[in-house]
Amino acid sequence: MEKVIETKNLKKKFGKILAVDNVSLEIEKGKIFGLIGPNGGGKTTLIRMILGILKPTEGEVFILGKRMPDRKVLKKIGYMPQESALYENLTLKENLFTFGEIFGVKNLKERMKEVLKFVGLEGWENEMIENFSQGMKKRASFSISLLPDPEILILDEPTVGIDPPLMVSFWEYFKELSKIGKTILITTHNLQEAMNCQEIGLMSKGKIILKGNPFELLKEHKVNSLLDLFLKFR
Ligand SMILES: Nc1ncnc2c1ncn2[C@@H]1O[C@H](COP(=O)(O)OP(=O)(O)OP(=O)(O)O)[C@@H](O)[C@H]1O
Ligand SMILES: [Mg+2]
Repeated sequence: MEKVIETKNLKKKFGKILAVDNVSLEIEKGKIFGLIGPNGGGKTTLIRMILGILKPTEGEVFILGKRMPDRKVLKKIGYMPQESALYENLTLKENLFTFGEIFGVKNLKERMKEVLKFVGLEGWENEMIENFSQGMKKRASFSISLLPDPEILILDEPTVGIDPPLMVSFWEYFKELSKIGKTILITTHNLQEAMNCQEIGLMSKGKIILKGNPFELLKEHKVNSLLDLFLKFR
């Protein structure tokens, strides 16, 4: 299988804090990989190093075989950060245009319509982001990460504050994307939704301490839920 995301002995220190501790991870093409784990476990730091936003203290990251950061590879990644990166005092349409131009999205107008329909924000194009609810901001951020029709989606807690019906359609969509060979790295604190991932990694104190298919992990460790597993190993 083709490796899409690969980290080798990745470490990040912030002063005395070892936020990511020697993480070697491989994610294959078409997989939905879920990172779970306690607050401060190192998930966001790992993701930011994978994207090349943050320089590792030690170790390397390869995406599609290229050492990161690589500008060409970055164009193939849709990223949704944990904290909103939207311009609050621009309208939704202006945000989509701004990011679309940064990403060099072709057929931007058509693509905007498609992504807004998908996240259910049609009709909100001319509203300022500052007037959006939390969940609507999440929808807007997600629509931006989808704009370039990326091969790889890296989503840091995309479903926080999203209402249950939309959560279900997000996951249906993730599964469709995975079927057509797109690779998704996602973090979540919702352990029920994490069961939808083909593979999960439990990250705690900077290390990935458990990894595998969620159903197989439950069997292997003789527990009934990811919550039990989480409590056993965190
Ligand atoms: N820019 C920074 N400067 C200093 N310390 C940082 C910085 N970013 C993260 N940390 C620290 O690194 C550790 C890992 O944080 P990180 O945000 O990666 O965790 P997380 O698993 O994403 O947590 P959460 O589930 O709350 O989002 C924490 O101890 C945090 O305080
Ligand atoms: Mg985080």
